[in-house]
Amino acid sequence: MLAYRHAFHAGNHADVLKHTVLTLVLRYMNQKDKPYRLVDTHAGAGGYSLEGRYAQKKGEFEQGIARLWDRDDLPEAVADYVSLVRAFNSDGPLKQYPGSPAFAQMLLREKDQLRLFELHNTDHRILETYLGKERGVQVMNSDGFEGLKGQVPPSSRRGVVLMDPSYEGHGDYGKVVASLRDALTRFAEGVYMVWYPQVSKVEAAQLPRRLEALAPKGWLHARLTVQVPDSQGFGLAGSGVFILNPPYTLHDELLNVLPYLVDVLGQYDDAEYLLEQRAS
Ligand SMILES: C[S@@+](CC[C@H](N)C(=O)[O-])C[C@H]1O[C@@H](n2cnc3c(N)ncnc32)[C@H](O)[C@@H]1O
Repeated sequence: MLAYRHAFHAGNHADVLKHTVLTLVLRYMNQKDKPYRLVDTHAGAGGYSLEGRYAQKKGEFEQGIARLWDRDDLPEAVADYVSLVRAFNSDGPLKQYPGSPAFAQMLLREKDQLRLFELHNTDHRILETYLGKERGVQVMNSDGFEGLKGQVPPSSRRGVVLMDPSYEGHGDYGKVVASLRDALTRFAEGVYMVWYPQVSKVEAAQLPRRLEALAPKGWLHARLTVQVPDSQGFGLAGSGVFILNPPYTLHDELLNVLPYLVDVLGQYDDAEYLLEQRAS
């Protein structure tokens, strides 16, 4: 039984980091004419109301997208991300937040393919209603770690995988590593983007180094720490994205983005970012 619902967290600081990086990766992929496939192994519901009781309960978006909404000094990549959130709110005010499938839907071209896995029955139903009939899109109500095997390599041999689990139990950390190891044997040149939470768990702290060991052809790791964990060390201090085979442009683009996000999203004086890479 899955307890996690992304609706509680939509638009928070972690979504800002993840979706800004996803936007940069997909813009890079769009520079070449050849079609590609995006596999979103943990897709969520696709889009979220920020006025609904889930988002309002914790108000996490107030410390995320809402802090960027009215800024007039956004770096180019953050402005691009915010413009997509604006496009998702065609009435004007910030009322809804796009999930990764909605960002994909806005960025992919007609010839590209979108493969979405979502295990939670309710979120799957919402996602299926939203995107299930769209051209080039397939929505699966099954395990994304397992399903990835059947999705790589894409016939065009261009592809991106977003792996964004809920890390509800400890098992997801090991499954991320195992499923990527398997996917790399099938499709070594794919771009693989993993999101992870910065929480007080040894598995979370070890994940970047375990992913590094899988990536013979280069990787990039970006982390944004915005708040102090509570007194017992719990809570989401920040989050990271780890990319295997990243676009070569990504490091320099994030050099502008991350210090800005620390300034605007940081909730304490020691908020910070980390940006490291090993180029191929
Ligand atoms: C962090 S949320 C995804 C958010 C989404 N990627 C976005 O950026 O908008 C994780 C989602 O994974 C779903 N999930 C959990 N385990 C899964 C699995 N093994 N396969 C597919 N989906 C799973 C959860 O129900 C949840 O909706």
